[in-house]
Amino acid sequence: MAMDAISVIRAKRDRGELSDAQIDWVIDAYTRGEVADEQMSALAMAILLNGMNRREIARWTAAMIASGERMDFSALSRPTADKHSTGGVGDKITLPLAPLVAACGAAVPQLSGRGLGHTGGTLDKLESIPGWRASLSNDEMLSVLNGAGAVICAAGDGLAPADKKLYALRDVTGTVEAIPLIASSIMSKKIAEGTGSLVLDVKVGSGAFMKTLADARELAATMVGLGTDHGVRTVALLTDMATPLGLTAGNALEVRESIEVLAGGGPSDVVELTLALAREMLTAAGLPDADPAKALADGSAMDVWRRMITAQGGDPDAPLPVAREHQTVRAPATGVLTRLDAYDIGVAAWRLGAGRARKEDPVQAGAGVELHAKPGEHITQGQPLLTLHTDTPDRFGYALESVTNAYDIESPGTAFEASPVVLERIA
Ligand code: URA
Repeated sequence: MAMDAISVIRAKRDRGELSDAQIDWVIDAYTRGEVADEQMSALAMAILLNGMNRREIARWTAAMIASGERMDFSALSRPTADKHSTGGVGDKITLPLAPLVAACGAAVPQLSGRGLGHTGGTLDKLESIPGWRASLSNDEMLSVLNGAGAVICAAGDGLAPADKKLYALRDVTGTVEAIPLIASSIMSKKIAEGTGSLVLDVKVGSGAFMKTLADARELAATMVGLGTDHGVRTVALLTDMATPLGLTAGNALEVRESIEVLAGGGPSDVVELTLALAREMLTAAGLPDADPAKALADGSAMDVWRRMITAQGGDPDAPLPVAREHQTVRAPATGVLTRLDAYDIGVAAWRLGAGRARKEDPVQAGAGVELHAKPGEHITQGQPLLTLHTDTPDRFGYALESVTNAYDIESPGTAFEASPVVLERIA
């Protein structure tokens, strides 16, 4: 049957169901360049507005997997474990987590992405380490994995190329926050990558793409279903993203904080989530007795980090880039910090240069936001609350607009109940 992009767009625009044949055709034609970016943007917006049913999501995911090659790690002597986050602000967890899980005996082939919207990307963060390379051939990836136990790299051009194009397009067309598009994007890459087990970190709250628990549950259940149907042991944790994770949002700033965690320190929420995800990954990989807290404390996770960074051309001892300019936001009142909004902080970091406005834009390694307090802490008027970092000071004004209403300080003694880091588990 002859197909054309306009009828596929119209079908979804008019709330119809896309047939298997329409889905297979549009993904293949987009990957080959026959369907134009503007047509795929319109279809992505129609999907965001009108949704997809389970059959459509499963078919869309299968078509994205089929757009490229599938990898196979079955020859490795260690069980493989992988995790993927749906994206948050200050979410640097992959950086300490991958070497930590490798230090506990699993092989961690961590294919990661770049910043999407107001959320940061693991590859953008690691690229702030002098010399570090995100792009590896499949042979190089296997060699780092065999040598260090963990590898964090970009998915090769051959892996789910349909997602590669669509991901960059969604980032700049306001079409990120669609459950069918997020679920198929993440799961097509993870299934094509060939991991044996997968732990999903589904973020919930203002700084996440899912703002409510109900949406996060739906996304988690959709992805767990897709993984299980393809023979990947898949578990999801729903985790809090109302406030940024840790005390930094921005590329080099987050690398620095991750190294603190690997050195046995770092902010308690980052440590808690890293350990919770590590335990899930190790259990899913058949290593339930491993002790990730010990591997953080005894330096073995740091050893893997150093081997992994070095194997990818990076210098783990090189000073990290620092932004040329900074500006401090001071507390306007004394009291209890009861809210520090993850979305507003993520937008500020993005506006300072940590993220992209167009898919071809470079990011600034040093740009971002440093937090000097977290919700629940007592604040004194005039104390530094946030520091904004950028190489381009004309960005401060626009970034400051985003942080003006990012926090609430209530009268001293106001009761504050912290949200748990892990909200729910879906398997
Ligand atoms: N991460 C992905 O890989 N894809 C999305 O759509 C969102 C987060």
